Amino acid sequence: MKIFKDRKNLQNEILNTKGISFVPTMGGLHKGHISLIKKSKKTKLKTLVSIFVNPKQFNEKKDFISYPRNQKKDLKILKNLKVDYLYLPSIKDIYSFKPKNKVFLDKFSKQLCGKYRKGHFPGVLNVVNRFLDIIKPKKLFMGKKDFQQLYLVKKHIIKRKINTKIVECETIREKNGVACSSRNYRLNLKHKKVASKIFHFLKKIKYKFNFINPNLLKKEIIKLGANKIDYIEFYNIRSFKRSKKLDKNNRIFIAYFLNNVRLIDNV
Ligand code: PAF
Repeated sequence: MKIFKDRKNLQNEILNTKGISFVPTMGGLHKGHISLIKKSKKTKLKTLVSIFVNPKQFNEKKDFISYPRNQKKDLKILKNLKVDYLYLPSIKDIYSFKPKNKVFLDKFSKQLCGKYRKGHFPGVLNVVNRFLDIIKPKKLFMGKKDFQQLYLVKKHIIKRKINTKIVECETIREKNGVACSSRNYRLNLKHKKVASKIFHFLKKIKYKFNFINPNLLKKEIIKLGANKIDYIEFYNIRSFKRSKKLDKNNRIFIAYFLNNVRLIDNV
């Protein structure tokens, strides 16, 4: 695995490849990332993983500082997976140039997490736009746990006519049902049990009811042990409009806190 900290050196190297398949991460690698990387490795392209904890997408400094970082373990995982390239940029390397494309921010960015994390999606799109400019990947692998992020990146790519295909990957879950996330590293055993109960509760609701008032669910989820709920809403994943029913295309979207750890999921 070749490691690059400087975008120019990275660009010189990848210029001579048949194309790049890109998996962007903020480190704290888990089974979800590993699954994306394994899928990327199955393409005929070279796999490039980035690790960059992007300060611009954190609406709270405390959250940025406490975001799980474990570079030694991450490097070991990536080497074992035989990743071709790792890009480990500094803040300056990412933010000291003007990208060709302007960020396109679809109005869906104002809903769900966008309502509660001001500046989060502009920050995500800013960094992804820069990565696309530097790397020009043929394929970009992203997970459906961050559904809104995936949708917004897709809209940006279409609107700016960027020649990158997004490969949407299913959410990978722990054995207890909790969606894999770097933030899970900050949960203790008790919190993990609560997160698992919340997932199983939502799954049960989803298959038992065609509709239920989300406010009723809020109360139940607090009873199960969540400290705070930012939102629990139903959305149609085709139209990206709020929905009044629950089925394959109409999912429950949730963001809640266990202590001060914010978790999101869609079921
Ligand atoms: O999903 C993430 O880890 C981040 O939002 C991403 C896409 C790497 C951008 O910083």
